[in-house]
Amino acid sequence: MDRTVHHGLEGVLAGESAICEVDHEIGGLRYYGYEIEDLAEHCSFEEVAYLLLMGALPNPDELFEFKEALVASRPVSQKTIDFLCQVSPSVKRMDVLRTAVSMLGMDESDHEANGHAANLSKAIRLTAQMPALLAALLDLPLDENVRTDPSLSHAAYLLTALTGVRPEPFAVKVINVSLILYAEHEFNASTFAARVTASSLSDLHSAITSAIGTLKGPLHGGANEAVMEMLLKIEAHGDVKQYLEERLARRKRIMGFGHRVLRKGDPRSNIIKAYAKKLGEQTGDERWYKVSTALEALMQHEKGLYPNLDFYSASAYYLLGLPIPIYTPLFVCSRITGWAAHIIEQHDHNRLIRPRCAYTGPKARAFVSLEERA
Ligand code: CMC
Repeated sequence: MDRTVHHGLEGVLAGESAICEVDHEIGGLRYYGYEIEDLAEHCSFEEVAYLLLMGALPNPDELFEFKEALVASRPVSQKTIDFLCQVSPSVKRMDVLRTAVSMLGMDESDHEANGHAANLSKAIRLTAQMPALLAALLDLPLDENVRTDPSLSHAAYLLTALTGVRPEPFAVKVINVSLILYAEHEFNASTFAARVTASSLSDLHSAITSAIGTLKGPLHGGANEAVMEMLLKIEAHGDVKQYLEERLARRKRIMGFGHRVLRKGDPRSNIIKAYAKKLGEQTGDERWYKVSTALEALMQHEKGLYPNLDFYSASAYYLLGLPIPIYTPLFVCSRITGWAAHIIEQHDHNRLIRPRCAYTGPKARAFVSLEERA
């Protein structure tokens, strides 16, 4: 047995997957071979969700049917909505969402079924249910006419559910792109957590509940909320350089920078950055773009670190008027498709994930009875 320990599993190939290729050399990202730039520019989130779940881009008929299935699956049981609305607003929204997804699992008639078809229909249902869950997380009523409107794309439905108004086309485009960018990233921590859970032949909702708990942390999905909190502090502070130097001197992390795999830059960041810039121009509020680009330049100079997807996503969401506590749940809305694709792949070719550890505790020693330990 190889006894080399790779802390944080850095550089370890922990399994095989056909879903997503992260090219750390050129900073490239492909879903089933398609470049992220092409998908973000030309596709709807529904097309990308179909690609991740089925392994191929849909033709027009397949897309029509898939969209119909999503619209039909939007309702969420009243007991789950009631639960969401009665939890104290002081509870972190990701904690509430994790519990809600766990509850939804119990509504599934084939809860324990892990076959390909059962997993697919659960994945479609859960993807479609997310906007209603997010609206309830913000204690916003979801109009029946909105929920059942088939003319609303997934992005438009999500944005309408979160703002209560029919959104502008550009706002829908930004959310659509964001959903595509966040959808999948091979063996990131939350996806790996989902695969570990699925590998014990536990069900899809349990695996996604594990993933949500993992995504919540500030080193992973929680970073997008932390970025916006940081940008607000910098704005109040007034001096980006001084703020950064003070934090780095205290060896604090700068949220939205760095990546375990994409050390030479995150291609998703360049895409969402362009939308954050345009939103600033359109709204006449270019403060966040200016602060962000200044921070980006300083971080590259001081630490050689590049922004990750969370960095410019934060100010884009802010300019869309979305409340900060909903940023990481928005990540869930999108990544649910990637998680589900991995859970399906795991169940279809399962082998229990059970690595070893290098033991660092005491050597074998003689047992001492309780009386003798006095
Ligand atoms: N701010 C300041 N220093 C950093 C940062 C950062 N954001 N990221 C890495 N470093 C430094 C780190 O201190 C270390 O320096 P030194 O060698 O002097 O001790 C060096 O860079 C290497 O860091 P590492 O800890 O080996 O890197 P890692 O692979 O364990 O960490 C990371 C990856 C994403 C956890 C880390 O970059 C980080 O904490 N970033 C901030 C949180 C964040 O933005 N998370 C989102 C990740 S990407 C999208 C997602 O999953 O949501």
